[in-house]
Amino acid sequence: MNTKHNFTHRKYNILIIISFITIIIGCNDSDDDRTTLTGDDYYQNIAEGYLSNMTLTEKIDVVSGSDIGSDADPINLKNTAWGAVGTINGVINDDLDLPAVKLSDGPAGVKSAPYLVDEDLSDSYATAFPIGSLLASTWNTELVEELAQKLGAEAKELGTDFLLTPGMNIQRNPLAGRNFEYFSEDPIVSGKMAAAIVNGVQSQGVGATLKHFFGNESESNRLYVDVVATPRSLREIYLKGFRIAIDESEPWSIMSSYNKVNGSYVGHRKDAMTDILRNEWGFKGFAMTDWGADDVANDTDSPAKLMKAGNDLVMAGGDAIKEDLQASVESGDLDESIIDQNVVRILTQAQKTPSYSNYDYSGVPDSETSIDVARRAGTEGMVLVKNDSALPIDGDSQTVAMFGVAQYATYKGGLGSGNVLAKYTIDIATGLSERFTVNEDLMSWYQTYFDANKIAHYDSWGPLAYYEIDEASVTDNSDLETLLTESAESNDVAVIAISRQAGEGADRTETEGDYYLSADELEMITQVSSAFHEQSKKVVVVVNNNGVIDTSQWSDLVDGILIAYMGGQEMGYEVADLLSGDVNPSGKLAQTYPANYTDVPNADSFPGVDEDGDGDVDKIYYNEGIYVGYRYYTSKDVDVAYPFGYGLSYTTFTIDKASISNNTLSDGYSGQLTLSATVTNTGGISGKEVAQVYVTAPEVKLKKPTIELKAFAKTSELNPGGSETLTFDISSFELASFDPNGDEWIIEPGTYKVYISNSSDISDTTPISFSVSQEIVVAETTPGALSTTDNSIVDVDVE
Ligand code: BGC
Repeated sequence: MNTKHNFTHRKYNILIIISFITIIIGCNDSDDDRTTLTGDDYYQNIAEGYLSNMTLTEKIDVVSGSDIGSDADPINLKNTAWGAVGTINGVINDDLDLPAVKLSDGPAGVKSAPYLVDEDLSDSYATAFPIGSLLASTWNTELVEELAQKLGAEAKELGTDFLLTPGMNIQRNPLAGRNFEYFSEDPIVSGKMAAAIVNGVQSQGVGATLKHFFGNESESNRLYVDVVATPRSLREIYLKGFRIAIDESEPWSIMSSYNKVNGSYVGHRKDAMTDILRNEWGFKGFAMTDWGADDVANDTDSPAKLMKAGNDLVMAGGDAIKEDLQASVESGDLDESIIDQNVVRILTQAQKTPSYSNYDYSGVPDSETSIDVARRAGTEGMVLVKNDSALPIDGDSQTVAMFGVAQYATYKGGLGSGNVLAKYTIDIATGLSERFTVNEDLMSWYQTYFDANKIAHYDSWGPLAYYEIDEASVTDNSDLETLLTESAESNDVAVIAISRQAGEGADRTETEGDYYLSADELEMITQVSSAFHEQSKKVVVVVNNNGVIDTSQWSDLVDGILIAYMGGQEMGYEVADLLSGDVNPSGKLAQTYPANYTDVPNADSFPGVDEDGDGDVDKIYYNEGIYVGYRYYTSKDVDVAYPFGYGLSYTTFTIDKASISNNTLSDGYSGQLTLSATVTNTGGISGKEVAQVYVTAPEVKLKKPTIELKAFAKTSELNPGGSETLTFDISSFELASFDPNGDEWIIEPGTYKVYISNSSDISDTTPISFSVSQEIVVAETTPGALSTTDNSIVDVDVE
């Protein structure tokens, strides 16, 4: 099954063999023909030549993965990648010497650990970058691309050919266990961020993999759960980002998800894997399954089914899959031409990788430059959601008292395949104590408490993953109570750290200690606030979280709240950069913080229903249709704690002079709308601002959310009084809605209102408008694709 969990890469303690192989090109075409080809056509031509020199068995080896955790060693592995979680087999015969190609996780850094296996590389670590949710909150695609260049460069130095990143499922519900790996509740943000990651990684000659295509918005029974949803909601919310990423970055590969959609495993759905992905969208890379997806379907012809639907590579692979595929071809169930096509698709992309050019990787990434961009992105993505004159803290004149075990139990990232085995995590205690004068007695009390009570949890690869620890109860600890009273008298500001961990394989829960604060955490905030407020001093909470938590219960008790998410290994320094004002906050939430969990439009249906009573959820109904996140709250006028797109700065900005500079929407898919607006820093210190373009579209055939985000842009650092004119391109596809009756994407006629605002709260923004005189068909789609026979799910309207 999931071989990753059995993986002991000590077994692969192979010395780096720097091989000077010559790849013998068994290609029939002359070099002259090939010189007229470019890009993928060039590589495809070579791949077709390789194919003509391969036996059926060799072809099956290529399409079935090598199952790195089993006894079946990868074929023609030239050298090791300490972090490979799987490989694509190579080919070695009289005509060909094609190397195995290595695949590694993951989204927040390369999951690789040379230090575990090679004495000479004992100081070689991959960098833990900030998690996806935090990167999305930067709303800065240039910065994310710059970070991804470092991620790709690290992968290359660590011997990786393909990174299994970015994760880009939609944050449909705050409790989904892997939300930390994903970007946003909005498909435009997700698609643009994913494109930035792919462009950055692939600029280094390493492949990127969009995952998990699609419907993997929860972890409960993630291998088997059936997502029941309307084609419109699937297209507009859950698939749209994937298409944007493919259009804007041409990823070399994509990973199909485990789950079912409308009754069939996604990997078995030809309408998804071929009709939509390739025929409608023109995806040119190869599609791999998620790890062990063949076993999941629990039938022996599953590998053939996966291939017939359009998966090219079955991962993690292994002998059983090969035998099944061989039998399917021999019985005539699986046409060999499908295997041929898959081999060509895989080898077309594989040729671009470092393994094919015998890249002499060092095993030692350039951590210094990675750490620099990780820290800049970390500070740019943390979101200040409350500031009643509490921040910034003046390090020259103010002293800090720190509370909460999370100052030591600080989490750099989430768990599972996305956990990075980095060298260190700068905890919040360290970050703040290096920047501010802190209350040493209090800090050492927490250090002692942490050391005495922490429970270590290890990654399946060996290194420490995180510490589990309960908050110290203030009232049960007389020393802590005394320290609290003293610090409220002697220090100027209290900073309280709260943290939340989550990971692959389980969803979070709407319980105390998870979505809600635990009783001890709440008591701590209450006591600290009361003691400091009595002395007219401010209290700031730093939330080190994997995803959305409740703030309504306690936000009134404090003066400042920084949603810090998980900032990678530089976490503590990033928090200090922001609290001190060394960096002016400019992050904006890429997901809504609801006022109450029960307000979440799918609160009742998450994480699904157990229809057969076996204790596992079987179906998850996406009843809210396209009304996910802010699309719901704004349409239904539901108050939220902090809206999508929201985030404070230490300065103030205006956004004005909004205008439409170009409109070629009538050109169908290639049409676009170009807008501009001027952002001015009206406050006293320099900073950056995000301008977000929300559109209210006319409703002719289709009901629509009150507003939908269509574009965004971020300024550079603006000095006080400085301004910048931003431009926004909205493609016709981004503007369009899906008409399920016509099986097409359309832009409806009428007047469109456009709000350029600094959050989804557009109440103070004056819109501009433009008109569309007649319906524009942007794209035709496959009739009936993704349809459901379940009558209980229909496109809903929210008024
Ligand atoms: C996860 C993928 C991951 C793969 C390899 C799967 O269980 O869902 O995201 O890339 O394992 O580790």
